[in-house]
Amino acid sequence: MRVIVVGSGYVGLVAAACFAEAGHRVTGVDIEAAKVERLSAGRSPIFEPGLEDLLRKHLATGSLSFTTDLGRDMAEADAAFICVGTPQSEDGSADLSFVLQVARDLAGAMARRPEGAKPLIIVDKSTVPVGTAARVHATLQARTDRPFEVVSNPEFLREGRALDDFFFPDRVVVGCHSAFAEEVMKALYQPFLDRAQAKDPASGRWFRMDPPSAELTKYAANAMLALRISFINEVAGLAESVGADIDQVRTAIGADHRIGPAFLNPGPGFGGSCFPKDLQALLKVGREHGHPLLTLAATVEANRLQKMVLVRKVRSYFGCGPEDPAPLRGRRLALWGLAFKAHTDDIREAMALALIESLAALGAELVVHDFEAMPNVRAKIGDAVRYAPDPLAACEGADALLIATEWPGYRDADLQAAGDRMKARVIFDGRNLFRPETLEKAGWTYHSLGRRTGRPS
Ligand SMILES: NC(=O)c1ccc[n+]([C@@H]2O[C@H](COP(=O)([O-])OP(=O)(O)OC[C@H]3O[C@@H](n4cnc5c(N)ncnc54)[C@H](O)[C@@H]3O)[C@@H](O)[C@H]2O)c1
Repeated sequence: MRVIVVGSGYVGLVAAACFAEAGHRVTGVDIEAAKVERLSAGRSPIFEPGLEDLLRKHLATGSLSFTTDLGRDMAEADAAFICVGTPQSEDGSADLSFVLQVARDLAGAMARRPEGAKPLIIVDKSTVPVGTAARVHATLQARTDRPFEVVSNPEFLREGRALDDFFFPDRVVVGCHSAFAEEVMKALYQPFLDRAQAKDPASGRWFRMDPPSAELTKYAANAMLALRISFINEVAGLAESVGADIDQVRTAIGADHRIGPAFLNPGPGFGGSCFPKDLQALLKVGREHGHPLLTLAATVEANRLQKMVLVRKVRSYFGCGPEDPAPLRGRRLALWGLAFKAHTDDIREAMALALIESLAALGAELVVHDFEAMPNVRAKIGDAVRYAPDPLAACEGADALLIATEWPGYRDADLQAAGDRMKARVIFDGRNLFRPETLEKAGWTYHSLGRRTGRPS
């Protein structure tokens, strides 16, 4: 198949490289010329494990190329994927301006398709509210006489594990109207469905539905995951108050097959480029249709409070009163982890940024480290913090160490050496990376989430 992928960000690049690996011929398009130049030279503008190698492999085989010219390979294309951003607008709704611009651009470029060409399958992979496929269809229909069909195909990949998720999908959701569109989509995805089913017969499932259902499926999936996170965070907070241990509780409830263990780890709230904006967009859709989503509103509010959980613990430990930040003034705090989760350089809505803002406002001096995200943070907040070349260097002279991202490199760090460099052996662990009893035996004051300290778990 000949595929055009519009938008070369986290989703578009992964899709482009994976479709090339599956044997399709792929044209990656982006409006940023510098990005296209970089990609054409085999350098990925984002960090995603395995992605750069795959890009290089298929640039070399010739099955993948990048351009700013959307029309270049339009004549032969079977499908064009829309993978541009849908950021949050001021009123909470998804900003569809990038998606609709691509629809207009596609309509113009389709003039290069020959008379009698088969319908172009235009696939919306961006996360968009119900009704967007219809809007994209109307936008195109007003501007081109070439045949096309708009399909909704939401993406469920996780940053940091994106290639695996694309190669071995749990399910592929396709919202379309015609058998022809389904046939094209099946031809594109069959190699991935086969791989997934070979690995686990329960995965690699194919769901054909109508476009509005496909669009809602994506939002509902993100809302469900976010709800589980907020739920376990609240239970972890309660566990601390009543003297229970969240590790024992979550393991036992996760053993119930109706519940399952995934997404039941307490943490410093969720962030990232998807959950926060997608939840706001879904809340907005609910309000617009007179159907307020109450569990979702509570999920968002619980997360807002959770993002401050480490700040509350730090303030309380150093004895800051409600109106009295003085005890933190001039304290040096080491912060491990800036990306919103491990294995990515993405800092959109990262919890660490909220931490930095609050603690810096209280007068603390922050020395930060991350394995991939430091350039992005530097580009965003410049010299508001100091950047350490490695985790241990961040601990030099620190009054406490905070952990916001679950990078394996932090779990495996030499804590003895870290403690030797610090003024005091104090950790505020927002990811529950260590066992309380082990750290306490080693002389640390260890604060984590929802666990009794000093007792075996
Ligand atoms: N990042 C994720 O983990 C993830 C997962 C599932 C779904 N999604 C959804 O996928 C969509 C894309 O997300 P992302 O994280 O890849 O975004 P991104 O910001 O990383 O990438 C978007 C790319 O589109 C390009 N672009 C913008 N307008 C363009 C145009 N007119 N023509 C060509 N290129 C254009 C930008 O330059 C950028 O490179 C969003 O709707 C997002 O919600 C993201």
